[in-house]
This record gives sequence, C-alpha cells and structure tokens, in this order.
Amino acid sequence: MSANLPCRLGVLVSGSGTNLQAIIDRIEAGDLCAEIACVISNKADAFALTRAARHGIPVVVHENAGFPERQSYDATTVEILRSHKVDLVILAGFMRILTDVMVNAFPSAIMNIHPALLPSFQGLHAQQQAIDYGVRYSGCTVHFVDCGTDTGPIILQSVVPVEQDDTEATLSARIQKAEHHTFAAAIKLVVEGKIQVIGRKVRISA
Ligand code: GAR
Repeated sequence: MSANLPCRLGVLVSGSGTNLQAIIDRIEAGDLCAEIACVISNKADAFALTRAARHGIPVVVHENAGFPERQSYDATTVEILRSHKVDLVILAGFMRILTDVMVNAFPSAIMNIHPALLPSFQGLHAQQQAIDYGVRYSGCTVHFVDCGTDTGPIILQSVVPVEQDDTEATLSARIQKAEHHTFAAAIKLVVEGKIQVIGRKVRISA
C-alpha cells in the first residue's frame, strides 16, 4: 500500500456492521489514511448498509441468489471491487468463505476478523466453541485471507477473558469491543505499509 495516498477499502459485510462503524469512525477521526470506496453486502437487510449510507459511502447489495457456483459469485464481487478501484478488501462480518477467484485477485490484500484466537475455534459459532471447550481466554484475530477457512497469516490478536457464566451473546459482546480497536489498528498497519508477510508469519515494522 502507498503510504501517501488514501488507501481505497472495499468492505464486505453480512450483518450489523459494528466493525464497519469502527473503521468509519477511525477514518473520520483522521486516524486512518483510507477511504471506503464501497460496502458490499450479501444480505439486503444488513444494518451495515444503513450505517454506510448514513456516511455517504456507496453500497452494493450482492446476494447469493442466481449464483449456484461460489466462484461465479466471487468473480462478480471482484468486478464490483475493481469498478470501485479498491486496493484493500476488508471482511467485516462477511459470512461467506471466499474462493480462489477472490483470493488470487487480491493477493495479501484481503483482511478478515474472526471472533476467536486462531488457530483455535475456526468457522462458525467460534464464541460458543470457546465456551464449550472451557477455555479461560478467547479473543479476536485479524488475519490475511488465504484459500482455507480462517487459516491465513495472523496480523494482530487481542485477548479477552471467558467468564464462568458467559453465554454466546455475552462473550460475543466482550469480544466485539476488542474487535473494534484491533481491526482498525491492523488496517492502519497495512495501509501504512508496515506489514511484511513472510510465509505464514507477519512482520510488523515500527
Ligand atoms: C464479528 O464478531 C466478526 O468477528 C464475526 O462477525 C461479527 C460481525 O459483527 N465474523 C465472523 O464470525 C467471520 N467468521 P459486525 O457486523 O457487528 O461487525
């Protein structure tokens, strides 16, 4: 990423969009040299779309219907991202697994946030998986996306405690608070060109 120009982000969402909101807030505060070029949702009723529209950000509803092949869905997503001149793709609660079509179109330029300390508790219901396993700590992970499920190189992680009486909802809420600052911090590192990916490892320069 260029350290001089605002980096153009394409943010993919499926739901409430609290992480999207945290990114918008950091940009508007002047703390993140980036511009959200578009928000793409695979759900027409995602509240994230309302959040984006409130800030004048272009939105695209790109639903799964009509795309029996995941690769053809992703090919269209790539076209939308390219038409908005996106440099960096942000998966902010986007509940679809990407195919090689997307991953190869944006090498080391797709970031995801996952609500667990990877490589533990990959996939869906990561918070409930953590509760069921009995771990004392969980958290969130920001990582680059590769062709696996939640397997790409890890950029940042934050730890939160798991309380004895936690439900999926209470643990999710605690993790989400950590997600909001962790995701923005990781995006800032990438946008500022402070990240080098060496195999599985991510080196952060000062
Ligand atoms: C976040 O907790 C994020 O970690 C999770 O979806 C939530 C989206 O919340 N993502 C995944 O589980 C991806 N596997 P938000 O829409 O309020 O940002």
